Amino acid sequence: MKFLLALVLLMSINIVYSQQSDDTIPTVESGASVFWKRCVLCHGAQGMGEGEIPLKIKDYPNTNIMTANKAKTTEEIRDAIVYGGILSNISTYMPPMGNELTWTEIQSVTMFVDNLRKFPAKHFEMLKQYSTTLEDKKGLGRSTFQSRCVLCHGANGEGDGRMSRVIKSPPPFNLTKSQMPAAYLKLIVEKGGESLGRSGQMPPWGEQLSKEEINAVVTYILQLRK
Ligand code: HEC
Ligand code: HEC
Repeated sequence: MKFLLALVLLMSINIVYSQQSDDTIPTVESGASVFWKRCVLCHGAQGMGEGEIPLKIKDYPNTNIMTANKAKTTEEIRDAIVYGGILSNISTYMPPMGNELTWTEIQSVTMFVDNLRKFPAKHFEMLKQYSTTLEDKKGLGRSTFQSRCVLCHGANGEGDGRMSRVIKSPPPFNLTKSQMPAAYLKLIVEKGGESLGRSGQMPPWGEQLSKEEINAVVTYILQLRK
């Protein structure tokens, strides 16, 4: 059964993979961007396995791709990306990305991984550029917070905004004391307090803010913690 499933999955990946002809040219630079968006969560911002997922999940397979020994040649790297752990001796925790990336993205990120191993310093630099874009998002988070949240939660998130004079039981949360994980914060910001059995005075923002603004404001309030 498991084998059949794998086969069906492989076939569907193959169809999409072969159909996706894209006439833009693969480059290491766009590979860095794909890596930043799609791989860092598990492989880490330096490819050394320091991604959020392996840091949180106990006994997660080693995701350091710098000392990688399972996919050595360019072809093997590409296969690992396209088929994940289905085909090879690589752990099935590596998801097949063949369906999710275009042909150009696959070629680009393959080149990037290959080059990252050969010339690490130069390619870490290329990734750094994206972490500064992330810094910019702090700007978006801050401005979203200031325009939508300060009124209740206060300028520093301490729950002492102007509305705290009228919203009392419970008062706007002191966000610097929050213990909740990012996923919960995102949920309450998106869906509001009531949907989570909390106070309806915490409004739902899912319709008024974009996903990007919500993610940014969540990142921002996490940084307000002491
Ligand atoms: C959900 C987590 C996850 C994501 C996302 C992910 N990987 Fe992986 N990757 C893994 C795991 C786990 C392994 C397997 C390690 C092992 O088998 O020892 C792996 C293995 C690999 C390998 C083989 C390493 C070796 O041993 O030679 C390569 C290459 C690779 N990943 C590249 C990528 C690229 C490029 C991306 C983004 C397009 C990506 N991975 C996205 C988890 C992930
Ligand atoms: C009209 C007032 C009001 C506004 C505006 C408001 N909040 Fe709230 N918020 C509350 C109240 C009241 C609570 C407490 C709910 C409870 O404890 O049941 C709360 C709780 C929260 C919590 C839960 C914290 C925790 O750890 O449990 C988060 C996160 C939060 N607000 C984020 C935001 C963000 C981000 C914005 C702006 C996008 C925002 N709030 C705007 C009133 C508001």
